[in-house]
Amino acid sequence: MPNWKEIDLQAKQWMKEAGEIIKSSLSRTLKIKTKSNPNDLVTEMDQAIEQFFIKNIKETYPGHRIIGEEGFGDKVTQLDGIVWLIDPIDGTVNFVHMQRNFAISIGIYEDGIGRIGLIYDVIRDELYHTIRGNGVFMNDLPLEQLDTVQVPEAIIGLNTTWVTKNTRINPAILGALVKDLRGTRSYGSAALEMASVAAGRLDGYITLRLAPWDFAAGKIMVEELGGYVTDLTGKSINLLGQNSVLVAKPGLYEEILKNYLNNGNW
Ligand code: IPD
Ligand code: CA
Ligand code: CA
Repeated sequence: MPNWKEIDLQAKQWMKEAGEIIKSSLSRTLKIKTKSNPNDLVTEMDQAIEQFFIKNIKETYPGHRIIGEEGFGDKVTQLDGIVWLIDPIDGTVNFVHMQRNFAISIGIYEDGIGRIGLIYDVIRDELYHTIRGNGVFMNDLPLEQLDTVQVPEAIIGLNTTWVTKNTRINPAILGALVKDLRGTRSYGSAALEMASVAAGRLDGYITLRLAPWDFAAGKIMVEELGGYVTDLTGKSINLLGQNSVLVAKPGLYEEILKNYLNNGNW
């Protein structure tokens, strides 16, 4: 059986080292390129950090496979065995524009089941971490099980894209929810938005398009604390493809699905 405690300790050490590499780059001018569209940025640091993890993982755990956003990992089409899902910098637009509000996100799965989740807010030096079944921590602080909340008292992470004309959802659907909520926030890092749900600072998070490396770690954390992470129709998330994602505390999750998303009938 894999020694999850040992893997967790090792991964945390690499996280901290990667954080130092990122911090030391902040005073330099980085090469910035665009990927799928002008707002989809990648820097040499995104690539260097992914390669840093891949080199270390391959040397230490040669049998493990890796899915990395920047494409330096393996071609993974099935989730058997141990698979690391890595987003070297989640929130690259924030990294480039603000030099803060980004995170390294790593989820480690065994046969499709989340075992270890790590999200490192490099600038605040806040490391969210969980080993499935052992609770979730922010640095040394244990996070509490998530309380039930209802829509009028809830604040959720939501990008304004989804309440303007877009190709994925009728803006009126989420517009109705926005009117009834206490408020919305948009952090520009899916990993930090999910860590914020785990920490109880946000009550939920909704997006229409995320990749596995964006939510792999956050999903393990939120579920460990009794919250829900599914697609917007209430179905399980696909760890090998793009998904809509609904993250919410108990109560709020059921209310949003039933009263606003009509249980996926849209
Ligand atoms: C992005 C961020 C952003 C989310 C995008 C992601 P990246 O990740 O998480 O908040 O809205 O969908 O692609 O590109 O900065 O790693
Ligand atoms: Ca990302
Ligand atoms: Ca990224």
